[in-house]
Amino acid sequence: MTDVAVHPQQAEKGPGEYSYQAGFGNEFASEAVSGALPAGRNSPQRAPLGLYAEQLSWTAFTQPRGVSRRTWVYRIMPSAAHPRFSRIGNGALRGTPFDEIEPDPNRLRWDALPLPGGDADFVDGLFTMACNGDLRTRTGIAMHLYAANRSMTGRYFVDADGELLFVPQEGPLLLRTELGPLHVAPGEIAVVPRGIRFAVDLPAGPARGYLCENFGAAFTLPERGPIGANGLANERDFLAPSAAYEDRAGPVQVVQKFGGNLWAADYDHSPLDVVGWHGNYAPYKYDTANFMVIGTISFDHPDPSIFTVLTSPSELPGLANADFVIFPPRWLVGEDTFRPPWYHRNIMSEFMGLVRGVYDAKAEGFVPGGASLHNTFASHGPDAETYARASTAELAPQKIDGTLAFMFESRWMLVPTRQAMEAAHRQRDYDAVWSGLTRSFRG
Ligand SMILES: [Fe+2]
Repeated sequence: MTDVAVHPQQAEKGPGEYSYQAGFGNEFASEAVSGALPAGRNSPQRAPLGLYAEQLSWTAFTQPRGVSRRTWVYRIMPSAAHPRFSRIGNGALRGTPFDEIEPDPNRLRWDALPLPGGDADFVDGLFTMACNGDLRTRTGIAMHLYAANRSMTGRYFVDADGELLFVPQEGPLLLRTELGPLHVAPGEIAVVPRGIRFAVDLPAGPARGYLCENFGAAFTLPERGPIGANGLANERDFLAPSAAYEDRAGPVQVVQKFGGNLWAADYDHSPLDVVGWHGNYAPYKYDTANFMVIGTISFDHPDPSIFTVLTSPSELPGLANADFVIFPPRWLVGEDTFRPPWYHRNIMSEFMGLVRGVYDAKAEGFVPGGASLHNTFASHGPDAETYARASTAELAPQKIDGTLAFMFESRWMLVPTRQAMEAAHRQRDYDAVWSGLTRSFRG
């Protein structure tokens, strides 16, 4: 064993210099050293290159092929070689279920989470905003924010409770995962599946963003229905990492999120020691610039489900545990149409964020890095200024540009955390955005 990486997990690279494998849920295969993958079988008597073979199962062995996900890894040390985990502080991370605060029917909005004043890596900088479901029975989601100003050095993270969908807002991330590195910049998203160990580096300094922890079924692509065989997020634009490994001595700390709490153990080696792997259970990233946006070419604003990138299905067809929906640059051309989102009340709970630019339903106050929560059946829609503008606008074709808003929709009420409700950056006057609406009824 050496104490330096012999394959460039941590090497300085530009964003375009990492190699990826394209496709969504494909049977990928990758080796950082030629010959690391055995031929024709998964677990030969002696795995190649003196490696240990190990299967990582996301689904139960007996689930149907259509949803089955598992990956075989060939690693320097088996994952089992570690000491006991001990509880550490949760910081501002919360699990579900929790009842520290009553569900609140009010519309809520926040400014951006301030970057940390002190030294904080990704784990230190996690801040839970709202949750639903129960991670112990694998239902629901948690909405977290992250804000970090240093890379994870000698420290790794793994989430046994859910998969993690990253939406960077400020600063790129280098996700060094067990299966290889993913460079993810604002405008891109990434998913690290449940149980995959990783570290977060900040290649360009302080970083901030949104994190959806999905306790339910793994995110997958929505059905297209009559849209056809192409469009929305296309399978070929999803990128999985290529194998890369660290061969380093410890001690290093592995932090595990389990049962809503953080646990840590000191390993004598890096857990990112996978030299080759094959399978369909892998982290991935996606550039939202590749999303083929569909909208009206006649009239009316379609339901925003048309903007779904990923969905975590529930046991009821069409009712998502969570949908990840984006509002990217696009043309508005509807005739005789109120073009921004309409006023509505919705059984689904809506948590929104803004990566950049301006969202077309709010004139101001919904800022990049900020967030809003419109819970189940909360009345919401355009603010007074947006209504006044859009209801009198000349309806020429209009490009909405330089913007990226997104929404996590969930089937259950999202309960905000006490720290989110009491945060200094919560906009306590949010209701006022609708106070300027006036009567124009002519009876
Ligand atoms: Fe909405």
